Amino acid sequence: MMDRPPDAAEPGNFGILDGISEVIATTASESGIPNAAPIGIIRNGDALWMRLFPGSHTRQNVITTGKIAANIIHDPVLYVECTFEDLDSDAFEYPDSMSLPVLKSTNAWLLFFCQQSEGNLFKLTPVRGMIYDKPVLCINRGFNAVVESLVHATRYRLNGDRRYLDLIEHYDRIVQICGGPREKEAMMKLKEIIEI
Ligand SMILES: Cc1cc2nc3c(=O)[nH]c(=O)nc-3n(C[C@H](O)[C@H](O)[C@H](O)COP(=O)(O)O)c2cc1C
Repeated sequence: MMDRPPDAAEPGNFGILDGISEVIATTASESGIPNAAPIGIIRNGDALWMRLFPGSHTRQNVITTGKIAANIIHDPVLYVECTFEDLDSDAFEYPDSMSLPVLKSTNAWLLFFCQQSEGNLFKLTPVRGMIYDKPVLCINRGFNAVVESLVHATRYRLNGDRRYLDLIEHYDRIVQICGGPREKEAMMKLKEIIEI
């Protein structure tokens, strides 16, 4: 367990580098209901953004509260659950009595002020964060394949285009070869949810 000063709000310290970093974003509704969903953080130098598409709790909560936390976490099952289901409230905690929830099992979190800029683009300003644990992880193609499958599964659920199912089956083969038990469990769950 490694604590960092709470003012360590440099996104690079949290592994948020140029390009798009996938995190589990946590937010709260106006009445305080916590929510979690995978979201990409877009970074270009010092500029940080999210593209939040209409219809999600995440977007609605951000418009209402102006805040979002990036949870840096590597559990593929949690990624599947957050994409398609609402997590139980006991999956969340409120560090230092913050009004914004983070995931109890996260390795690190970084809180942002988040303001709608134009259309679906929201500007992020890092406020403060905490690193609990810095796992030394090799790249696991199985984990990455779960994330790719999830992206295709969300698109499939939106438009029913069966080409996404072929892509998911392609990634499933990688999960079966390269993934560990959590990746295989995540994939099984994903396939159950989208009924393939
Ligand atoms: C890896 C991954 C990345 C995603 N990135 C985004 C994103 O950047 N913006 C967005 O609006 N939705 C994104 N999504 C889709 C949302 O996570 C999904 O719509 C989710 O169901 C929203 O949940 P909510 O309604 O609880 O907020 C992503 C999904 C996955 C699997």
